[in-house]
Amino acid sequence: MSGFYLALEGGEGAGKTTLAKLVCDQLEHEGHQVVLVREPGGTTLGDEIRSLVLQSEAMSPWAEAFLFATQRAQLVSEVVGPALAEGKLVVTDRSLYSSLAYQGGARGLGIDRVRALNLLAVEGCIPDLVVVLEVEPEIGMARQDSPPDRIGGETPEFQAKVAEAYRELARQEPDRVFLVPAEHDPVQVLKRVRELIEL
Ligand code: TYD
Repeated sequence: MSGFYLALEGGEGAGKTTLAKLVCDQLEHEGHQVVLVREPGGTTLGDEIRSLVLQSEAMSPWAEAFLFATQRAQLVSEVVGPALAEGKLVVTDRSLYSSLAYQGGARGLGIDRVRALNLLAVEGCIPDLVVVLEVEPEIGMARQDSPPDRIGGETPEFQAKVAEAYRELARQEPDRVFLVPAEHDPVQVLKRVRELIEL
């Protein structure tokens, strides 16, 4: 039996973390076994890489992309893969689609090249469904916890490129990647996300 892998994505302050908890509560309430993870992080190695990648001052775009891919390789082999093999539902707060949008799109490394790197890292284990929460970048940035990390503190132009890359991903993979407006009521957003999860 194989489970279901849901990724919640979006720019800064889109509300992924709040929604991830709501989605997990709802699915558990329905009787599913749910595992919630977040990227970067979710393992001991991943948490160490998280502080490196988000707090270091200067980093080349490819160094950044490889660090995100490395923490993801560990998370998939240690947590996500085994949970899916046991038929569980995995909900992740960010995924390789963040790398495609941030490193591939906004940093300019190219979505295809960053996808190739990540498919190697996760050995082809990718989310079944990717929900991108859309808010205007200015609204999202204003909602952010302060102080933002190195990437969250990037310019509004960078955040606009992230948003455009997510839209491009939704165009490329219309059966997997869905844009959901998320400026208003989280309960409405939850309802829409639940409709998209075919269980
Ligand atoms: P996090 O604190 O999880 O931010 P958020 O609350 O916005 O999800 O920090 C993750 C930051 O790292 C965020 O700015 C997005 C960025 N990121 C990438 O650039 N590439 C990636 O592959 C991932 C997983 C995150």
